Amino acid sequence: MKVLLVGNGGREHALARALVRTSTTESPVELIVQAGNPGIDPLGEALVFDPLNPEVVADIARSRSVDLVVVGPEAPLVAGVADAVRAAGIACFGPDKAAAQLEASKSFAKDVMNEAGVATARSFTCTTMEQVEAAFTDLGAPHVVKDDALAAGKGVVVTTDCEVARAHAASCLSRPGGAVVIEDYLDGPEVSLFCLSDGSTVVPLVPAQDFKRLLDDGQGPNTGGMGAYTPLPWMPEGLIDEVVADVALPTITRMAQRGTPFIGLLYCGLALTSRGTRVVEFNVRFGDPETQVVLERLDSPLAPLLYAAATGTLAHLETPRWSPDAAVTVVMASAGYPGALSTGKTITGIDAAERIDGVHVIHAGTRLLVESADEDGGLPGGDQEAARLVNSGGRVVDVTARAASIDAARDAVYQAVGAIHFEGAQYRSDIGTWPDHLGA
Ligand code: GLY
Repeated sequence: MKVLLVGNGGREHALARALVRTSTTESPVELIVQAGNPGIDPLGEALVFDPLNPEVVADIARSRSVDLVVVGPEAPLVAGVADAVRAAGIACFGPDKAAAQLEASKSFAKDVMNEAGVATARSFTCTTMEQVEAAFTDLGAPHVVKDDALAAGKGVVVTTDCEVARAHAASCLSRPGGAVVIEDYLDGPEVSLFCLSDGSTVVPLVPAQDFKRLLDDGQGPNTGGMGAYTPLPWMPEGLIDEVVADVALPTITRMAQRGTPFIGLLYCGLALTSRGTRVVEFNVRFGDPETQVVLERLDSPLAPLLYAAATGTLAHLETPRWSPDAAVTVVMASAGYPGALSTGKTITGIDAAERIDGVHVIHAGTRLLVESADEDGGLPGGDQEAARLVNSGGRVVDVTARAASIDAARDAVYQAVGAIHFEGAQYRSDIGTWPDHLGA
């Protein structure tokens, strides 16, 4: 199967790795990838293209006779890439622009959840500071303020400080057409459950937990995610079935009734509150960095699964097989992340890290910097040209380990993190742990 993978961050490296790792001799996967990620580029034919231009992506898929386009990030989906690919008669894993509103607009997602009877936090959509103040008064602290629009992981502020909440709301509203969703704070541990959908059938993957704050013990600012692990030994039995029945299926059914069927991955971000399971957020693509651990445990081929979702045939496919192993991923981020970044720093130690049993390193924000010898002298070793791996984004590498238990995976992953160096690297030291009261 010839697959075009759109996107070139850590999630897409994990997808590319899983597509290749689970490829079979009966149905081999041939990958075309979006160039620019030193981890992804060697896994397929790397092409330079604009992922946000729907016609460009559709043209590549058509001219290369691609069987399936897999869209990793949300931005190309919101830009209409899946619409253009499907209009070209090619299977696409990822929702149309209209269905991608489940992530692109928090208020749209709330409307669909309310129509579908899906339990979520009580909320107000506000377009003025007067409405924001009224919502703060009604809901009380902690304040949860969500930019209504896509904000690259920076749209949500959860705080007990009213001034901080107010400032975030004001900054979201200052944009033309800006709106914010103010909602009740949901207590309890969070779970990410990814559900494949072909528009009517839902197939859940294994659950994972993401660590959203920058610092240990859930301190510091929110980030895109600083690490993840799976399985969740403390998770109540029956949760996956409950979420499929009470969240994913009603949402997918409602989207179809609205005339905007959802094809792709519905990311259910859940809080297990004292009053029951509640949806914190929907995303319309694989989560990052949860994908890095979830796909590590997949023991059956990924490409046919994504193809079945893209072609309305999930009900006819065998359910995915999962390893009982555990997987843990730790994000190493640039100095300054999630604020102003310090980039261009040399990264060393990846080979040493990958020599540790069960460890591999996913590239999220790295690039190869090619340096040429100047007139006055050469490069060290007399070379005319040399390439150096440097950090180029906020989240730089996702160090991932698979082992027989979470403890063993965590030991391996932190040994590997200790082998990797770049100036100012930040990472959490508590990924893969959970509070005693959760048990297991
Ligand atoms: N890890 C959170 C996200 O992918 O949105």
